[in-house]
Amino acid sequence: MRLLDSALPIVAAPMAGGPTTVALAAAVGAAGAYPFLAGGYASPEALAAQIEQLRPRVHGFGVNLFVPSRIAPDQASLAAYADELRGEAEAHGVQLDPVPVTDDDHWGQKLRLLIERPVPTVSLTFGLPDAGDIAMLRRAGTRVLASVTSADEARLACAAGVDGLIVQGPDAGGHSAVFDPSRIPEPTGTASLVRRAIRASGLPVIAAGGVDGPEAVSRLLAAGAEAVAVGTLLLRTDEAGTSPTHRAALADPAFEESVITRAFTGRPARALRNGFIDRHGSTAPNAYPAVHHLTRELRAAAARSGDADRLHLWAGTGYRSASEGPAAEVVHRLAAGV
Ligand SMILES: Cc1cc2nc3c(=O)[nH]c(=O)nc-3n(C[C@H](O)[C@H](O)[C@H](O)COP(=O)(O)O)c2cc1C
Repeated sequence: MRLLDSALPIVAAPMAGGPTTVALAAAVGAAGAYPFLAGGYASPEALAAQIEQLRPRVHGFGVNLFVPSRIAPDQASLAAYADELRGEAEAHGVQLDPVPVTDDDHWGQKLRLLIERPVPTVSLTFGLPDAGDIAMLRRAGTRVLASVTSADEARLACAAGVDGLIVQGPDAGGHSAVFDPSRIPEPTGTASLVRRAIRASGLPVIAAGGVDGPEAVSRLLAAGAEAVAVGTLLLRTDEAGTSPTHRAALADPAFEESVITRAFTGRPARALRNGFIDRHGSTAPNAYPAVHHLTRELRAAAARSGDADRLHLWAGTGYRSASEGPAAEVVHRLAAGV
């Protein structure tokens, strides 16, 4: 494999907000897959600590960062959404603050950290930073990957100077990497997206989205991907930091499908369909990270109290195949498709 130096062409996708832990990354690394740490939402100090804990335990690894949004949230639609959500919040005794909070997820500090203490790979999601930032990481000896969801985004990433792509199909769990979050990713298979992205960019590709077993791995490798990334299949493993409410929902037959929604964070994301999505999916504004901050406390309270109806239950279409047990078992199972 040219892009990543791992024994197996299998990648543990970064999963911010709890699921990715150093223990999970170390376990998949020991099983021969390539682990990613989730730098999104983490403070620079917490990320630095995770990197130094993982570094001696694995051969190679990556760190994922959220590229800051350049779109200013529309105050009026945000205020209206805060108003709409008041009853949901009151059910948990939470007061929503309608004053929009936006942030850059400490982009500058995290970039400095990764320049001063370089890591083998950095992957970017939610768009592209300045080409100068990509060049700086590459000069530090880091391989830089951009997450893309279309052939056009693949072309833009190539022009920005990245070493490779993570091609994320719309079946993927969690946030979509779409550069323009006003666009809901159109339904398409990850394999056909991989072929189009390779044609458009000529770059090496890691495929992600909807992997539910070894056959999906085979299909994506046959489509030209150098490796296949999985997120959802790791969510219920022993080493993942997934909340008990989320874990239980993934195995609960009452959740019949996963859908793409902006209801929780203002950016399209695939989650198990629940009441919150049904009630607010059609009105949620395109305003990430302002909606993420608006709903954060409410979601934290829902997770604590076992309220799966108001929680962002991120899940890809393969969620029914997410099993309990050691993460290494998931890697071994998927290796049959290599
Ligand atoms: C709970 C969860 C959290 C995620 N967090 C991130 C993240 O922090 N950064 C990122 O680039 N992708 C994130 N993703 C998307 C994954 O990187 C990957 O694209 C996706 O999991 C692949 O599809 P699958 O879930 O069907 O395997 C997340 C996915 C899930 C399920």
